[in-house]
Amino acid sequence: MRLKDKVAVVTGSGRGIGEGIALRFAEEGAKIVVNDVDEANANAVVKKIKDLGSDAVAVIGSVASREVVQKMVDTAVNVFGTIDIMVNNAGITRDVILHKMTDEQWNEVIAVNLTGVFYGIQIAARVMREKGYGKIINISSTSALGNAGQLNYSASKAGVIGMTKTAAKELGPKGVNVNAIAPGMIWTDMMKSMPPQVIQQMDAMLPYLVPLNRKGTPQDVANLALFLASDESSFITGQVIFCDGGMKM
Ligand SMILES: NC(=O)c1ccc[n+]([C@@H]2O[C@H](COP(=O)([O-])OP(=O)(O)OC[C@H]3O[C@@H](n4cnc5c(N)ncnc54)[C@H](O)[C@@H]3O)[C@@H](O)[C@H]2O)c1
Repeated sequence: MRLKDKVAVVTGSGRGIGEGIALRFAEEGAKIVVNDVDEANANAVVKKIKDLGSDAVAVIGSVASREVVQKMVDTAVNVFGTIDIMVNNAGITRDVILHKMTDEQWNEVIAVNLTGVFYGIQIAARVMREKGYGKIINISSTSALGNAGQLNYSASKAGVIGMTKTAAKELGPKGVNVNAIAPGMIWTDMMKSMPPQVIQQMDAMLPYLVPLNRKGTPQDVANLALFLASDESSFITGQVIFCDGGMKM
């Protein structure tokens, strides 16, 4: 077991990539604080983790709230004794072309994808730096490099990379590794919610866009997150690892 007796908080883990990460970590022995805005999904993931033989507890609410993120970390410490791993995964899209983007669409994405990750890094790091150990994993995106229709989202995901590198420099001397994963096309509800004609076009272009010629799965991202959460990656920090089938090599 690669994460035996470790304690992880995974934001947005009621479904999709976050759920995949939470279950993969639990399979390797970690206890999990499952967070989501969707209570039913979060509780279902808690049950799946218990069925796997590990332990989990749900904290419901938005990462855009400092109080909610504080509650996640407090829950990890009070229920499971500490926090070893923080995965800042929760994210949303409000896709629209630049000249039509509203302040609301901008602000919503920045609040969850950027401010939410700031809270996650800061609040988890306060515990981790005291104990001299921790792994922080932030979920960015290939869209950080630019993607039409995603100005708000790409700004937030590029910001996650900047925060990852700054936090890695500050926290490295304290024994805390901070890395980012930039997933490409991962077949989750987020991708499935795109207009059908866009999905059709992407499928047609797949062999040209993605050298490995398939969409990714939450398990693809979870396996990389597991490596970054484990001590196998103890000399790696401040990195952005693309999990995209070679799309942005
Ligand atoms: N799917 C992809 O192709 C892809 C590609 C690159 C990056 N990502 C990133 O991966 C992460 C997970 O994406 P996904 O595809 O699993 O999406 P998803 O929409 O399937 O799942 C996201 C989960 O986060 C929860 N969530 C949303 N807002 C929240 C908030 N404010 N606080 C707490 N939880 C919240 C949702 O309820 C949902 O359960 C996101 O950060 C996303 O930007 C996804």
